[in-house]
Amino acid sequence: MDQVRVAIVGMGIGKSMAAGFAGVPRAKVTALCDVVEERMEAFAATELSWPVKYYTDYVELCKDPEIDAIFVGTPNQMHVPIALEAIRNRKPVLVIKPLADSLPAAQELVTAAEASGVVNMIAMVARHAPSTRYVQQMIADGDFGEIYHARARTLRRTGIPGWNTGFISMGGGVFRDIGVHALDAAWWMMGMPKPVSVIGTAGAKFGPRGQGYWDLRPALPGLAAQFAVDDYASGFIRFDNGAGLQIETFWAGHQPDERVIELFGTEAGMRLDPLMIYRTLNGAPVDTTVTFPKGPTPWEHMANHFVECILDDVPCESPLRHGMIVQEMLEAVLDSGATGQEIRLNYD
Ligand SMILES: NC(=O)c1ccc[n+]([C@@H]2O[C@H](COP(=O)([O-])OP(=O)(O)OC[C@H]3O[C@@H](n4cnc5c(N)ncnc54)[C@H](O)[C@@H]3O)[C@@H](O)[C@H]2O)c1
Repeated sequence: MDQVRVAIVGMGIGKSMAAGFAGVPRAKVTALCDVVEERMEAFAATELSWPVKYYTDYVELCKDPEIDAIFVGTPNQMHVPIALEAIRNRKPVLVIKPLADSLPAAQELVTAAEASGVVNMIAMVARHAPSTRYVQQMIADGDFGEIYHARARTLRRTGIPGWNTGFISMGGGVFRDIGVHALDAAWWMMGMPKPVSVIGTAGAKFGPRGQGYWDLRPALPGLAAQFAVDDYASGFIRFDNGAGLQIETFWAGHQPDERVIELFGTEAGMRLDPLMIYRTLNGAPVDTTVTFPKGPTPWEHMANHFVECILDDVPCESPLRHGMIVQEMLEAVLDSGATGQEIRLNYD
């Protein structure tokens, strides 16, 4: 095989992923799958200049021998059923974040994926941003010394995704939606230390009152009454190397929009985005702003890595197992919020 024929499941974020594959010469999107056929037709008509197959049933899609690999970009609660079906059919699978809508579902998928031996990857796009990769490499090279603390905060002033009832009523709230990006990116740059304990708070202060929806739009009729998830979550994760990660995420709040990750190292610190690196040289503070030349988009970078794992046997940098450990941390923040207890984690 010298080109991977990819199927995209889910015509929301799947469109960004398809654009990523379009930038990879050794990949071609040859099939789309969505329960709403018009979404596939509209996307293909405007964005694809070659014929593709349409599927409304992912089980049928996964059986197609002319498809080599599958991207799962459906609402959270459908990630695991679709990825399991792909694996049963021995298709490499790339699953959008968060891995699942619960920890048991994530664990079931990782067990099946690892037993099958097929390429399995979590699509955490923030890992593929130039700034994140740059810092991760510097830390791996020892330029930051020991990383002993991190802080990640993602805040939307008024950004509850009111069009997506799956999030609001089933698949997960703000932490599984956007907190997961900051959590994963910070943990990955820190060198993925083993989490040992978590304390958190979480709740819904805006959504159930019909407030805080995207750009101050009114909530769809009936939506506020269905609101069953967190619209804020905040936690502290302790790792076995003694490092800590403070994480906060808000779909809405009376605060300015903010997206920041800070790492504290014994030799350097950093803050992004934009990427700033803070050091002390010759007894004086030296602050550097790092800008990046235009290169592949994070989606193209991610698509390219998935393809090289399949075609070149390159070890996967982001196996589903990473998504499962992130899921364990984020579910522990939510569980701690619900129970008022510290949650102890035990991964080997
Ligand atoms: N930057 C990112 O990484 C990023 C951004 C947005 C969303 N997401 C993730 O992408 C996923 C989807 O979110 P979205 O915003 O695209 O939602 P969306 O509602 O816009 O799109 C989801 C699509 O999946 C389709 N779908 C639902 N069930 C299906 C099934 N059983 N088979 C086939 N298609 C099905 C829907 O019809 C819809 O077209 C979520 O897990 C979300 O967390 C990731």
